Amino acid sequence: MGQLNELVAIVTGASSGIGRATALLFASEGASIVVADVDEKGGHETVRLIEEKGGSATFIKTDVSDSSQANAMVQAAVETYGGLDIMIANAGVDTPNKLVTDTSDEEWARVIGVNLNGVFKSCRPAISEIAKRGGGAIVTVSSDEGIKPHVKFAPYNAAKAGAISLTKTLAIECAPLKIRVNSIAPGEVNTAMGGTGWMGDDQKLIEESEQAILLKRIGEPDEIAQVALFLVTEASSYITGEVVLADGGGILYTG
Ligand SMILES: NC(=O)c1ccc[n+]([C@@H]2O[C@H](COP(=O)([O-])OP(=O)(O)OC[C@H]3O[C@@H](n4cnc5c(N)ncnc54)[C@H](O)[C@@H]3O)[C@@H](O)[C@H]2O)c1
Repeated sequence: MGQLNELVAIVTGASSGIGRATALLFASEGASIVVADVDEKGGHETVRLIEEKGGSATFIKTDVSDSSQANAMVQAAVETYGGLDIMIANAGVDTPNKLVTDTSDEEWARVIGVNLNGVFKSCRPAISEIAKRGGGAIVTVSSDEGIKPHVKFAPYNAAKAGAISLTKTLAIECAPLKIRVNSIAPGEVNTAMGGTGWMGDDQKLIEESEQAILLKRIGEPDEIAQVALFLVTEASSYITGEVVLADGGGILYTG
């Protein structure tokens, strides 16, 4: 008996990395999954990986920075699976490594458009549908950089801090609807965007990064997916409006 049997979950950004790991884990726990992403090839591969293990999933091509596409994503979940119980607002983009003084309007708008506006646009249409089921859970994927900003990451830092604030407002507004809303703030995780995704096989850089984490290693997508599972199940029934920092203790490293 899966922990998410008969539940329907949307996972944005599920074509790779943390989103794919979350979609696979939730499907293995019995949820039907809407894989929502701009990346079609990766999205279909996530669906294939779920179906191969006997799970149920469908890919909906979605740019979460576009309201009409985000609305259609939620509608597709309702039409395909009869309702919605869980929203994982995970889709995100990286930021150009630039000082504020060198950041263009377009670069600022692109990162805020996906990493903050995309969370708003994904969650907004989901709320009424989750409420119709008598409640459920929303999880946003923010970042340790929303808590402790990183130099040359201004749009990303601001978007993730905004996503954390939005999560708390949503928790307040959704509590009467029996929808718990929490955020996961990952540290460095091995995906296309993080960890070895940007460090490549630069062993010196990898070692330096690992040394600056209390647990002396970079995280794996499945370790973040496990936090997401905790936040959507009864195990976290008394938690809402919280940010779970999953960073191997990176934020506490003092050298
Ligand atoms: N990997 C890390 O080190 C790390 C650390 C902190 C936070 N995060 C956050 O975790 C989340 C997942 O990132 P990841 O590390 O798995 O990276 P990833 O690049 O593997 O996955 C991001 C996914 O989001 C999708 N995406 C991008 N723009 C989109 C859009 N407009 N609409 C829909 N989908 C879109 C991409 O196609 C991709 O599949 C992001 O929000 C990221 O900011 C990652």
